Amino acid sequence: MLIRKPTDIRPSEITSKDNYLNRRQFMAAGAAAGSIALTSPLFGAIVPPGEFAKLPDVRKSRFSTDETPTSYDDVTTYNNFWEFGTAKDDPAKNSKDFEPRPWRITVDGHAEKTGSFHFDDFIKPFDLEERIYRMRCVEAWSMVIPWVGISLADVVKHFQPTSKAKYVAFETLHDPVRMPGQRRAVLEWPYREGLTIAEATNPLPILAVGLYGEALPNPNGAPIRLVVPWKYGFKGIKSIVRISFVEKRPQTSWNMSQPWEYGFYANVNPEVDHPRWSQARERRIGSGRFASKQPTLMFNGYGEHVAHLYKGLDLRKNY
Ligand code: MTE
Repeated sequence: MLIRKPTDIRPSEITSKDNYLNRRQFMAAGAAAGSIALTSPLFGAIVPPGEFAKLPDVRKSRFSTDETPTSYDDVTTYNNFWEFGTAKDDPAKNSKDFEPRPWRITVDGHAEKTGSFHFDDFIKPFDLEERIYRMRCVEAWSMVIPWVGISLADVVKHFQPTSKAKYVAFETLHDPVRMPGQRRAVLEWPYREGLTIAEATNPLPILAVGLYGEALPNPNGAPIRLVVPWKYGFKGIKSIVRISFVEKRPQTSWNMSQPWEYGFYANVNPEVDHPRWSQARERRIGSGRFASKQPTLMFNGYGEHVAHLYKGLDLRKNY
């Protein structure tokens, strides 16, 4: 559990009560008038330190589904996060002592702005949004998760990639002392993922820093992880420490491990089966042991926003 002494808390992390109330009132007035700009930040994202910290000034997103969210318990105890073990309940058990602060994120590669940033400074230029997304795991189960995060497209634009940047690559922290699962070679560490620059600047992906209105729990990838709702869950790399703007397609963990089963694109596609099982249907976690599986939707139901990205691409070959 993360308990920080008052001496650890930097003055910039403290929002006065008055300031906090003013921010909320301004936010409410703006929302009522429908005047909140979608691109320029109103307040700047803040994630107060500490487990279960409530996130201030979270605005709603037009991209949210109105489906019922999966329970908090299921979202935070049924996880894939092999840095803390390979069983679904391992991350909740084995990440209890993980301290996601202080945290630094390095931005490098082909961009006008690069550098190494304290987590609080990294997120500050952006606004927090709640995005309730359907999430589909390659293992044919799904959840609905009320994420809170910052728009990845805004982040990419902020760092001003040059024309050489064709892809965005991400890396998880590599620290076998803090992440005991990394002492076993079940994957080549650190966990890596990537998107094309067109995917990364699509309005849907976010860098999540919370869920259910609170700071991101450790099993879900604290303090910051990727969420790409039209792709299989393994693209959603957790506990990110590096974002690189690169010219060549980056290597990605599951593609490196089993390329015949896991491709770079990993778009949810009910018509292209995994070599070992069908992708046509999915089990919604929490729907009960006897509930029937539901049909999987092309691009996980987000086709209107993303299908154009893959026009002309053979999705059977580019799985
Ligand atoms: N990121 C890291 N660093 N390590 C992992 O093992 N697992 C991936 C992805 N991100 C993984 C990761 C897989 S397979 C899935 S399905 C999602 O995280 C699960 O996210 P959730 O546990 O928050 O639902």
